[in-house]
Amino acid sequence: MIRVQGGARLSGIVKPSGAKNTTLPILAGVLLKEGEWVLNNFPLVQDTLFMITLLEELGCKVKVKKAKHQAVIKVPTKLNISIENNIFSSLRGSIFLLGTLLAREGEAIMPYPGGCNIGQRPIDLHIKGLEALGVKFDLASGLIHAKVDGKVAGRVYLDYPSVGATENLMLFASLIPGEVTIDNAAQEPQVVDLGNFLKASGVNIYGVGTHSIKIKGPRRFNPIMFSIPSDPLEAGTFLIASTMTGGDITVKDVEVKFLNPLLYKLGEVGADVRMQNATTVRVIGKSRPQAANIKTLPFPGFPTDLQPQMTSLLVIAEGVSLVVETVFESRLQHFRELNKMGAQVTVEGRQAIIRGVEKLQGAEVVATDIRAGSSLILAGLVAEGETKILDDFHVHRGYENLVEKFSNLGAKITSQIVNKEMLANEQEKV
Ligand code: UD1
Repeated sequence: MIRVQGGARLSGIVKPSGAKNTTLPILAGVLLKEGEWVLNNFPLVQDTLFMITLLEELGCKVKVKKAKHQAVIKVPTKLNISIENNIFSSLRGSIFLLGTLLAREGEAIMPYPGGCNIGQRPIDLHIKGLEALGVKFDLASGLIHAKVDGKVAGRVYLDYPSVGATENLMLFASLIPGEVTIDNAAQEPQVVDLGNFLKASGVNIYGVGTHSIKIKGPRRFNPIMFSIPSDPLEAGTFLIASTMTGGDITVKDVEVKFLNPLLYKLGEVGADVRMQNATTVRVIGKSRPQAANIKTLPFPGFPTDLQPQMTSLLVIAEGVSLVVETVFESRLQHFRELNKMGAQVTVEGRQAIIRGVEKLQGAEVVATDIRAGSSLILAGLVAEGETKILDDFHVHRGYENLVEKFSNLGAKITSQIVNKEMLANEQEKV
């Protein structure tokens, strides 16, 4: 569990780690060509390490140099096409292996992916898009069995700008000789990062960051050394913390443009937001934040991955806020935990009405997914007394050294391994 003692004002400079959501599709992307790939600024989080285990299962030799934050991946000439490892179903990002295995070997057999428990998360858009490019699926066995039945170039229209489907199609299309257009593509930061990675490896790819991406098969596709860009979600989590604690935090080495939807909101609730240059932003928390409404949307709308953290801010804001979660159907679970801390939130379907309270009380709460976990840390930072966040393994799936980074910014926070017996003993003492 993570223990947080509320009340500290956070300040300092922080550099986020490499982005987990960018690393996962890139780890699948390296499979597109045999040889040695080097990924720098590699985030040492559970999900990326799990993905490496899957790469090893497919035949890669991987060395993770932890001190250097570097992963060296040797991709063989022939990849296994079948994955049985249970780890596959604990990650959403594992589905990217579908696009690359089909591109490389023409066939793939794998379970369904998993990931954070924030909604149903089907893969119908991935399947429909790949079918449009000539892939045939057999789903009768409960596994995904896909085969390329004559690669065809062409156009794909996504009914919804799914991040994962866009990335899977970009990966698959990277080895198709003709031209593929993905319309109504996602524009999220990790899609742009993947596009930059593919471009640097030799793929002719245009329109990344817009709703229409064009990929014209590779001219020369080669293994490269690539540096994973910093995580805008981690950066956003610190900037929200600064606003909530009346703090003064500068985040450096992050694409500030990816943070725009959040920065506008932080300005709206009363923070002093200073964009110092394209990769540095400073946020100074003023008096108690003001209420604001939030509706999550595909980028450049307000990101669903910052909704839980931002709503921890709104529960202590002055006034009434409305939150509408349009991307995932079950992503308001953290409010049950925030209410244990004295928040006044009513949830109805995908909407939450938040009546801001002046103070939260420390409590024992449970992290239900990565971002719900970090939202509870933020609440703990401003609560009276101690907050214990159980099931913090969720946090470590996506954030590297979050506890240490918060501690360096002045938070009273520790991480501790506990079992149920220890917890029961502690509760008895209370
Ligand atoms: C990615 C991110 C996740 C983020 C999300 C939205 C990674 C590894 N994960 O997830 O952190 O919260 O983008 O920004 O990068 N959908 C379908 N059918 C599909 C695919 C998606 O109905 O085939 C639905 C989903 O259930 C969801 C919505 O579309 O309701 C958005 O999903 P999508 O954009 O695909 O998110 P992920 O790629 O799963």
